[in-house]
Order: sequence, then C-alpha cells, then structure tokens
Amino acid sequence: MNKPLRIALTKGRLEKDTVGLLEKIGYDCTAIREKGRKLILPVPDGNLEVVLAKANDVITYVEHGVCDMGVVGKDTIQEMQGKFFELCDLGFGRCKFALATKKGSGFYGGYSVKTVATKYPNITRKHFEAKGMDVEIIKIEGSVELAPLLELADGIVDIVETGTTLKENGLEVIEDICPISARLIVNTVSMKMRQNEIESFVELVEKNLDK
Ligand code: PRP
Repeated sequence: MNKPLRIALTKGRLEKDTVGLLEKIGYDCTAIREKGRKLILPVPDGNLEVVLAKANDVITYVEHGVCDMGVVGKDTIQEMQGKFFELCDLGFGRCKFALATKKGSGFYGGYSVKTVATKYPNITRKHFEAKGMDVEIIKIEGSVELAPLLELADGIVDIVETGTTLKENGLEVIEDICPISARLIVNTVSMKMRQNEIESFVELVEKNLDK
C-alpha cells in the first residue's frame, strides 16, 4: 500500500464535521475521536493520516506540500490566498462575512474616514476598495465585537453564523459581504503525483456530502 494521504483539518467545528463526513464514508475514526492531545492521527482503513491544525496553518502545510490535502474555511482561503487547488465545497461550516456596527450608527453617512476592526484585513481592504471607499483598518485577533463597543472602530468585518454574538452585544449587520463554507484544498504537486488516490477520495467525499 502507498504511504497514507495526509490531510490537515482545521481544529474545532470543521474538524468535527469532517470526522462526521469520514465516518459517513465508512472510515473508522476512533483514533481521532479518542485523540487526547495527539495532533497526528491515523485513519488506516482510508489510508489517511489526519493532522489537526489552526486554519491558517492548514493552508501553510498544504502549500508547502507536507500535507496533501486540507479542510479549511473559505474565509481563511480568501484572507491568505496561496498556491493550491480548491477542489470542493464541503457544504458545512456555513456562515457569512458581514459588516456590522452598533445599532443605528449611520456608518455610511457623513464625510469622516471610518475605522473598521477585523481579523481579516485583506478581505476588508478589498471590500472597501471595490466600493472606492477609504477606510482605516485595525487588525484585531478575536472577539472583534469589542472594537465598536469600546469605540475603537465604527464597524467590524467579521464572521456571522447565528448572529447571537452581535445581538447580545447590541450590534447589527448593515451589509452582507459573502457566504462562507468549508473547502477541500489540495497541494498542486500531490494533485499530479497522487492524482488517482486523490480523485478517488474526492469522489467518496462528494457522494457523502449532505446536500
Ligand atoms: C466567531 C466570529 C464571531 C462569532 C460569530 O468568533 O468572530 O465572534 O464567531 O458567531 P455567531 O454569529 O454564531 O454568534 P469565534 O467563536 O471563532 O471566536 P473569536 O472571535 O475569539 O475568534
């Protein structure tokens, strides 16, 4: 048997959804479910090796070819870009990018340059460039909702899933930017060198996606 295909999963919710998908295919994911603090886990009956990483690092490992494939959100793909193939939309991890402000803030009114806080400065820059609007962007690492509450920023560009975080903090979406979901990405060299194995895996994945 060939060496296992190595697939990097984004730790957390996407990891859980991907494990659900692998189990639906029929693979035994006991090692992942009982992983403890281990970061590299075998899925022997799928000839896979699962690597658990942070979203940005999933892209780094796939780009550098130390992982053949990865499961990562479209948000991270758009923010980081990079050289890899995006093979399929896995349909889970659905949420959206949105611009949100304090309720009734009138973000698009007035002439002052607005300040926008975000974990995603590239996406934010592109969004406002496309509108021809000059904004000041401040990078925040997490709980971006704090920035307008503390009056660091007029608005935020962030992920909205259920909308609960915004609601509980008196914020509202004033503009949807784009939908997000999990994607399967593949290293460009692996795609050439292990094409048959990757295509067979992708076929199984696509057959087992919840439509
Ligand atoms: C994300 C996002 C929002 C929240 C949205 O944060 O940045 O804060 O989830 O989810 P909701 O619409 O269902 O309330 P995450 O939980 O990843 O934490 P972080 O902000 O610390 O990165």
